Amino acid sequence: MTKAEIGLIGLGTMGAALALNIAEKGFPIAVWNRTAEVTRRFHAQAGALADRVIPTESLAELVAAIAPPRAIILMVPAGPAVDDQIAALAPLLGPEDLVIDAGNANFHDTNRRAAAGLPMRFLGMGVSGGEEGARHGPAIMGGGARADWDRIAPVMQAIAARAEDGTPCATWMGEAGAGHFVKTVHNGIEYADMQMIAEVYGLMRDGLGMPAAAIGETFAGWNRGALKSYLVEISAAVAAASDPLTGAPMLDVILDAAGQKGTGRWTAIEAQHLAAPIPVIEAAVMARNVSARIDERKAGEARFAAAPQALELALPELEAALIAGKILCYAQGFAMIEAAGRAFGWQLDLPGIARVWRAGCIIRSAMLNNMATALAEDPSRNLALAPFFAEKLETAMPALRAVVAQGVLHGHALPALASGLGWFDMMRTGRGTANMIQAQRDFFGAHGFDRLDGRDSHHGPWAAK
Ligand SMILES: NC(=O)c1ccc[n+]([C@@H]2O[C@H](COP(=O)([O-])OP(=O)(O)OC[C@H]3O[C@@H](n4cnc5c(N)ncnc54)[C@H](OP(=O)(O)O)[C@@H]3O)[C@@H](O)[C@H]2O)c1
Repeated sequence: MTKAEIGLIGLGTMGAALALNIAEKGFPIAVWNRTAEVTRRFHAQAGALADRVIPTESLAELVAAIAPPRAIILMVPAGPAVDDQIAALAPLLGPEDLVIDAGNANFHDTNRRAAAGLPMRFLGMGVSGGEEGARHGPAIMGGGARADWDRIAPVMQAIAARAEDGTPCATWMGEAGAGHFVKTVHNGIEYADMQMIAEVYGLMRDGLGMPAAAIGETFAGWNRGALKSYLVEISAAVAAASDPLTGAPMLDVILDAAGQKGTGRWTAIEAQHLAAPIPVIEAAVMARNVSARIDERKAGEARFAAAPQALELALPELEAALIAGKILCYAQGFAMIEAAGRAFGWQLDLPGIARVWRAGCIIRSAMLNNMATALAEDPSRNLALAPFFAEKLETAMPALRAVVAQGVLHGHALPALASGLGWFDMMRTGRGTANMIQAQRDFFGAHGFDRLDGRDSHHGPWAAK
C-alpha cells in the first residue's frame, strides 16, 4: 500500500469514527491504539474502507507508514495522556512533522504545549458532534500556526460537516489554544442550551401536567420554527421514546442526575478570569452540580416539601421564553469569546465562529445563520443589541418574564432562564445600583468612587468618622 496521508492515535469512540470518516473521504490513514487488539478489531470491521486503513502495532511502525512531512491526530483523553503521547512521538518525528491534539483539551494546556518548544509542529483542534459527527461530519475548530492548519485543512474540510450553503465547518480560529478555547465555549453554550430545554421540559411536566409524549410533540413542533436545532430535535425524540424494559416513557425511567466532563466548568472558570458575564452558562453548570446531589435534594424535599404547583402558561409562551433565553445565552457566549480574543491577542472571527457552528456540532441551529449575519455587521456590538436580535428580544422578553415569574412564584427551579432575565434587566438599566457597592467599598476600604457630576471628590464623608 502507498504511504498514508495522515495518522491517528486512539481508536476509541471518537478516534475510530474520525478515522473511518477520513478514509471514506479518500485519504489513506495509518492508525495506532494503545491496546493493539482494538486496532486489529477496528481494521477487521472497517469493511470497504479497510484498504485505505494501515493498522500499526508500534509508534515506530505508525510513523514509518505516513508520508513525510507527517500529520498525526491524537484522539485520546485530555490531560496527561496527550503529554505522554507527545513525549513518546518526540524521538520518532522530525521538526516538520505535525501532531494534532483533537481531544477536548483545556486550552491552557494547548497554550502551554504550543509555547513549550516541542520538537515537532503542534496544533490543538476542537472537534464537536459526538460519535455521529466524527463519523459523518463534525464541526472542527483549529488552533495553532496558520501555516500548519493550512497543511491539514484539505483533509479537515473534506471530513467536516457542511452548512446549507455548502461551506465546510472546519476553520482556523487563531494561534495556540484558540481552537480549543472556542470548542470549550461551544460546550459551555451546549450546557446552557440543554439546561434551558430541561427547564422548559420541567414546566411542561410539573407545571402543565403534560405526559412525555405530548412534550415530545411540542418540541417537534418548535423544531419547525425559530428554535430549529439539533438539541430541540433530539429532545423531541427522547421525550417520544419508550423504555424497552418497562414500556414507560424513557424520560420517566432516567435518573435525574446529570454527568459532565468539565468543559462547561472550564467555560465558567475562564469567564470569571476574563470578567465576562455568562450567567446562563454558569447557571447551567451549577444546575448539573446540584442535580448530582441527589441525597441532598431528597433531604431538601423532605424538609421544605414544596411540590411545584400548576401553572397557567400557554405553550407559545414557553416557546418564546426559550427563544429569548437562547438569544441571551449566545449574546453572553459571543461576548466572552470577544473578550478572550482581546485578552489573549487572538484575532477571533466571531461571524466565522457562528458559521462553523451551523452544522456538525451539538449546538447547530437555524439561529446561528442570523447570528453570523448580525456579528458580521459589527463583531464588537453585543448580539442582543443587533437590530435583528433586539427585535426578537422585544417580542419574546415578556414571555420569558412571565414564565420565570410564574415558575419561580410556584416553586419551579429555573436557574438558567432566570439568570438570563437577570442579566437582561441589568444590561438594559442605564442607572443601576452599583453606586451602593462603590459607597460600601469606599466605606470599608477607602477604594474611592467616581461621581455622576464628574467633580473631583472621590471619597464619602464616612472616612473621617
Ligand atoms: N465522545 C464524545 O462525544 C467526544 C466529543 C468530542 C470530543 N471528545 C474528546 O475526544 C477524546 C477521545 O474521546 P473518546 O470519547 O473517543 O474516548 P474513549 O472512547 O474513551 O477512547 C479513548 C482512546 O484513548 C486511548 N487512551 C486512553 N488513555 C490513553 C493513554 N494514557 N495513552 C494512550 N492512549 C490512551 C484509548 O485506548 P485503549 O483502547 O488502549 O483504552 C482509546 O483509544 C477526548 O479528549 C474527549 O474529550 C469526545
